[in-house]
Amino acid sequence: MDEQVIEAQRGYDALPLPFGWFAVAMSDEIAPGTLKTCKYFGTEVVVWRGEDGVLNAVDPYCPHLGAHLGLGEVIGNDIRCPFHHWSFNGEGGVTDIPYSDSIPLKLKRGCLPTWPIEESLGIVYVWYHPRRAAPKWDVATADEITQEGWVCAEKHDWVVKTHVQEITENGQDYAHFRAVHGTSGPPATEFKMEGWARRNVVVSEMTTPRGPMTGKIDTWAQGPGQSITRFTDITQVTMMQQITAVDGHTTHVRWQLYHPPGISEGKMRVTVARMRDLVKQVNQDIPIWETKRFQLHPLLVKNDGPILAYRRAYQRFYQFEDDEPTLVAAE
Ligand code: FES
Ligand SMILES: [Fe+2]
Repeated sequence: MDEQVIEAQRGYDALPLPFGWFAVAMSDEIAPGTLKTCKYFGTEVVVWRGEDGVLNAVDPYCPHLGAHLGLGEVIGNDIRCPFHHWSFNGEGGVTDIPYSDSIPLKLKRGCLPTWPIEESLGIVYVWYHPRRAAPKWDVATADEITQEGWVCAEKHDWVVKTHVQEITENGQDYAHFRAVHGTSGPPATEFKMEGWARRNVVVSEMTTPRGPMTGKIDTWAQGPGQSITRFTDITQVTMMQQITAVDGHTTHVRWQLYHPPGISEGKMRVTVARMRDLVKQVNQDIPIWETKRFQLHPLLVKNDGPILAYRRAYQRFYQFEDDEPTLVAAE
């Protein structure tokens, strides 16, 4: 069957894109004086870091005659368009027009739409909102990994052909853990919403090189794009996950896996095995994610997990007020 017909059947066209903070790059991909065109949210965001180290994010097309700013250059703290060398600051204001000695005030104040941008623990986040309303919460951080000696042992990323909502639904789908990942026993679980965040605590039997043991998985998901999961048994692993919609059918998943300092050789072996197992689990999920459809009315039974509670809570990331202010009054 035609690829496009199959894709249409999967139901993702019916799901909008949620608003929130989403990772668009790793910090070290954008050195001072460089820029990057980030292709997310079904659009493009041009991100640059000035010589002052500060990140800025704008729409791709120059308001003058429409050149792509991703082909431009960072000059000082500003971005310069490749076409007629207009320069813009991080507020989207024109700072220089090389062939004109008067810049209209309107252009100086801002004529290029900007995106809120933040940086945390080596990740660059942009606030996406379909109406470009201001951020509603802050980027979440994990205090323990900012402590002396914590090690970012592994980084992974995957581009998966599915809608962003489906990735985190997987964590609520308890019955697949045994079928897909081979973990045994029905987990004891907790699911609750705290403001814009979702908290999941799962106590389950896990397979380790030393045999099955009880472990705790504690997830804090701040908005739809970011989660922090702490795996605790005889070892401790903190997983930072960012999931970003490339478009409604494609999602970029990023992981950074951390462990505490000074652990014994034996515990290190278990830690490494845990990390390997987590990566293995995503690779087990991907073929299912990439071919499944969004089942709007799933046939759920006892012990399926809090899938509907998750979907209900997720709705808030699609809703906005009609009078929600926009950050940029671009013409
Ligand atoms: S199109 Fe950008 S300066 Fe003319
Ligand atoms: Fe899974």
